[in-house]
Amino acid sequence: MQTQRITADVRLGTNVKIYDFVNLYGCAIGENTKIGTFVEIQKGVTIGKNCKISSHTFICEGVMIEDEVFIGHNVTFINDVYPRATEANGKLQTETDWVCIPTRVKAGASIGSGATLLCGITVGENAIVGAGSVVTKDVPPNTIVAGNPARVLRKIHDSNPASAAGKNDDSGKQFFQRLDKTYGNSFSSWEQRSVEQLQNF
Ligand SMILES: CC(C)(COP(=O)(O)OP(=O)(O)OC[C@H]1O[C@@H](n2cnc3c(N)ncnc32)[C@H](O)[C@@H]1OP(=O)(O)O)[C@@H](O)C(=O)NCCC(=O)NCCS
Repeated sequence: MQTQRITADVRLGTNVKIYDFVNLYGCAIGENTKIGTFVEIQKGVTIGKNCKISSHTFICEGVMIEDEVFIGHNVTFINDVYPRATEANGKLQTETDWVCIPTRVKAGASIGSGATLLCGITVGENAIVGAGSVVTKDVPPNTIVAGNPARVLRKIHDSNPASAAGKNDDSGKQFFQRLDKTYGNSFSSWEQRSVEQLQNF
């Protein structure tokens, strides 16, 4: 039984991994990128290399995702600010009746699960968008934003996930120590691991 729909016009780089129940058409995916289950990627979308697109995410026409980007679960992109099903005469709209507005996610950025990104915005390099956020404006590079509407929480000063918030105090460490206490594990050692190791955990 066929459990994926990947049309002939999809361009796939080498070693792209695509899980089941995926619908891809007219898009381009760079090498080593992983596409989770129940993801839809529309025509004209470009996705760079070494990206992770988690399950249940919708990536619409007009979206450009650069290399090494992490997209969480159930992330929604938007390309039409004032959508309508029909024209004034009651006829269903066609492609010529609306304008597709682009969105760009720059290299190394991460979009948290359940986030919605309005269109016409750029998420800067290495930025992080918090889970469940509604992003209405550009996100500066190396910045964490969260909330609805998403607001800047802080800048990121290094690539260590535990201190990725750019906290100058010990709160990253304290977070993992709190997990140690609750779950009796040694989560604090995670602090030493790379982002890639954590994502593969
Ligand atoms: C935003 C995030 C990166 C944390 O960044 P941080 O700078 O370490 O933020 P903190 O945890 O110190 O929280 C700072 C404030 O933001 C709030 N906050 C944190 N995450 C938030 C979110 N997703 N939405 C809204 N507010 C959020 C906190 O409650 C806190 O508020 P307070 O100051 O009123 O107490 C993290 O919470 C997040 O959402 N990560 C995405 C995880 C994800 O989706 N992973 C997908 C794979 S499982």
